[in-house]
Amino acid sequence: MGLSLIWAQTPDGVIGVDGTLPWHVPEDLARFRRLTRGHPVVMGRRTWESLPAAMRPLPGRDNIVLTGSGRYQAPGAVVASSLDDALAVVGDRDAWVVGGGSVYAAALPHADRVEVTIVDRGLRGDTYAPVLDERRWMPVAFEPIEGWYTSAAEGTRYRFVTYAHRPESSPAHDPRLQAPHTVRCDWGRPGARAVAAGPDRLAVVVDVLTFSTTTSAACARGIDVAPFRWHDPRAQVFADEHDAVLAKDRSTGGPSLSPGSVHGLGRDRLVLPSPNGATTSLVVAATGAHVVAGSVRSADAVARWCVRRLAEDPSLVVALVPTGEGWPDGALRPCAEDLWGAGAVADALVRHGVDDLSEEARLARHAWLAVADGFTEHLLASASGRELVERGWADDVRAAARLDADDVAPVLVDGWFRSA
Ligand SMILES: NC(=O)c1ccc[n+]([C@@H]2O[C@H](COP(=O)([O-])OP(=O)(O)OC[C@H]3O[C@@H](n4cnc5c(N)ncnc54)[C@H](OP(=O)(O)O)[C@@H]3O)[C@@H](O)[C@H]2O)c1
Repeated sequence: MGLSLIWAQTPDGVIGVDGTLPWHVPEDLARFRRLTRGHPVVMGRRTWESLPAAMRPLPGRDNIVLTGSGRYQAPGAVVASSLDDALAVVGDRDAWVVGGGSVYAAALPHADRVEVTIVDRGLRGDTYAPVLDERRWMPVAFEPIEGWYTSAAEGTRYRFVTYAHRPESSPAHDPRLQAPHTVRCDWGRPGARAVAAGPDRLAVVVDVLTFSTTTSAACARGIDVAPFRWHDPRAQVFADEHDAVLAKDRSTGGPSLSPGSVHGLGRDRLVLPSPNGATTSLVVAATGAHVVAGSVRSADAVARWCVRRLAEDPSLVVALVPTGEGWPDGALRPCAEDLWGAGAVADALVRHGVDDLSEEARLARHAWLAVADGFTEHLLASASGRELVERGWADDVRAAARLDADDVAPVLVDGWFRSA
């Protein structure tokens, strides 16, 4: 028997909200039907109840519904009281686990394949996909190979990723994961997923111009910061619900990604959307990593926080993630300032006695050491610095260049960066 899991998730791992699927991508549903048709499907009681009445049971498949309630009736389906019972009903047939969050988590250790649809939406949810342990699972197919499909229904972008077990014969650690070094470094969200995912990671997310700099400046003033995905329409609702101020575009003159704008905020909570730093922070946080915003302003404090955590648990890994910027087509633009920011933290770590750096982390440190003297001028002259200067935001660049101006480590706890 082969057991496969199939789900659709946002890049942050959200699979459901309020008992429903928070998107409509008919192409994904069609693929779901194509793959699962003719096979038993195992699901939790809540997923069963979330199916439209006309699709309950899912046609052409033996439906097996898990519930702890002995009296539960699921007309047209087999009711099972445990995963073992459900797998016994499946017998030696190939079967699919189709949700929801609790059943995916329970079934994952038994699975030999996982089909994930990434739905490119920024959404807050209440149900999450389990984290695929990179030591056990590896992506084996992408569709499309590069980029995204666009749904005809709502224009939502999506792509399919197939995961299979990492072959026993391959090294326990892909060299690209930079094991066994304590301090590692890789770029952007793909790099973060490689080196910074999982509960044993201290993920230092570095977006010097300007998400992590502004987060640092805010936390230093006692302001908590909620990272939000860029242009997420739920940001204002979230801010209102949490008595917080929502940062807007710099040109509004109000609170924004500009570090100076957090002065005199008048509120102790700020919702800060950003395309790179905030989004990457949310992505790695969803994997269970301990996320801290790293910047030149907070390099030493962030390094000291990492050192304290490492003293408690030496098996932790410090993953430096320069987020980089984006080109208009969505490709990652590695940028000097984020490499320098990651390097400033790496250098502080070395000064505090943590010197087991991967070559990639060492590169970041040496990039920083090459510009540390007169850093403001280097930052102003960098491509991102010049972009901000030309738009009239030279002061933001100067603020971002102030080494150790903030004696705080902004740590993400329950969705908010707080001074630690
Ligand atoms: N994005 C996707 O691909 C996808 C796919 C499916 C579902 N979803 C979403 O996921 C959400 C539902 O997920 P969920 O985690 O809240 O609920 P769920 O996993 O669908 O159902 C949970 C219920 O299943 C029963 N159950 C689970 N594990 C069991 C076990 N080992 N033994 C016996 N019974 C067990 C329990 O029922 P009792 O309480 O009756 O004991 C439990 O309360 C919805 O929002 C849905 O739309 C998303």
